[in-house]
Amino acid sequence: MANNKYDLIVFGATSFVGVILTKHLLSQTNLSANFKWALAGRSQHKLEQLQLSLGTAAKTLQLVIADSDDIASLRNLCNSTRLIVSTVGPYALYGENLVAICAETGTDYCDITGEVHWIRRMIDKYQVLAQSSGARIVNSCGFDSIPSDIGNYFLQASAQEKFNCYLPLVSMRVAKITGGVSGGTIASFISTIEALKASPSLRREIANPRYLCPENGPKKNSERNPKKKQRFDTNFYSWIAPFIMENINSRIVMRSSYLGGMNYGDDFTYDEAILTGKGMLGLLKSLSISLILTVLLWCFYFRITRAILNLFFLPALGEGPSVESQQRGSFIIQMLGRNHENHQLRVCIKGDSDPGYGSTAKMLGQSALCLLETSKTKVPGGFLTPASAMGSMLLSRLQRNAGLTFEIDEH
Ligand SMILES: NC(=O)c1ccc[n+]([C@@H]2O[C@H](COP(=O)([O-])OP(=O)(O)OC[C@H]3O[C@@H](n4cnc5c(N)ncnc54)[C@H](OP(=O)(O)O)[C@@H]3O)[C@@H](O)[C@H]2O)c1
Repeated sequence: MANNKYDLIVFGATSFVGVILTKHLLSQTNLSANFKWALAGRSQHKLEQLQLSLGTAAKTLQLVIADSDDIASLRNLCNSTRLIVSTVGPYALYGENLVAICAETGTDYCDITGEVHWIRRMIDKYQVLAQSSGARIVNSCGFDSIPSDIGNYFLQASAQEKFNCYLPLVSMRVAKITGGVSGGTIASFISTIEALKASPSLRREIANPRYLCPENGPKKNSERNPKKKQRFDTNFYSWIAPFIMENINSRIVMRSSYLGGMNYGDDFTYDEAILTGKGMLGLLKSLSISLILTVLLWCFYFRITRAILNLFFLPALGEGPSVESQQRGSFIIQMLGRNHENHQLRVCIKGDSDPGYGSTAKMLGQSALCLLETSKTKVPGGFLTPASAMGSMLLSRLQRNAGLTFEIDEH
């Protein structure tokens, strides 16, 4: 049972995202003086270097050594804190022991995994344990999948207010996205590809939009899948191209709907794509994105081409976009919700730094702080999503402290 020596521990504080997350948490001057948190990782030396680089504000932070293969060290983490926020990835390689011990000890947990096959495996193995211990396990608290999940939450809450109903047909479109990629993200992507290569049945299972809903969950499903072909999306007056995060985000949004008792409707469907613009240029852009994605996927599929990419083009583990590139980055997302009675609502979601790092670290930090504020009576244990665990509280925190805006688009 946790003795609450700390409120929060950042596990993987020396990772590329972990460093940005730690800086973000240090910048939260509104944290109470009683708020106790610590940095954890597998290397004392790296943790000390990080602490030194963070200046006087970080001097009082405790450093805790833990390795994802060392059960005793993970148990020590869980027994000393209310919540662990983990950036130790790929999660399918390093994440299970920590989730298992959180589920056993009732320790709350947030991460930024986009590895849906791993999330499903964890739900299957530890959901019952987490429910009985009261551990709230909230995955995907980064760019995947907060803008999608909380964006849809905002859209549905606004529709309730305006039309007194939910909107079961939702399309999310990426209007603008600029940012880079880190070695850790590439490693997670490769780990997912390896898992899919090893199991043809996993490929089939993962294709189900309700993959993250339990087997006995609602079965009705009419997935609209725009990534199969280029098409002109008349709802957005633009050609569209596949968005690589769709297969992660849509599974999380579906789980949110399921956990809310399918409150967005039994026929709820959700899809994502990139807007590429009108006319011939829009079509060409759409074709180019599809071509580049296909080529990249094949390059990652074969070890030899992957090695060439790694050698010449991709960041190493621990590396990622520069601070300038993080600050230059941003994203704009449009969402349209409709129902069969011709009600429709558009919302716009914006982020003020690069999606995968500057923005992800802020979203993750705010999710962790928000979960700590959420009572266990109101939100009991189990595998939750950002929207199902924290809904409106997280929505306002993201707008106050994470540089995100969620607005109804009247045009
Ligand atoms: N959802 C999103 O939008 C989003 C965005 C960005 C990243 N991500 C995900 O976040 C994860 C982290 O990405 P990143 O670029 O920050 O990765 P990274 O820089 O490669 O960091 C990986 C971290 O894992 C630690 N680690 C590895 N093996 C460990 C072990 N056995 N025990 C304890 N710690 C161990 C490393 O420790 P050392 O520092 O000691 O090497 C490092 O701190 C990845 O899975 C990535 O896919 C998600």
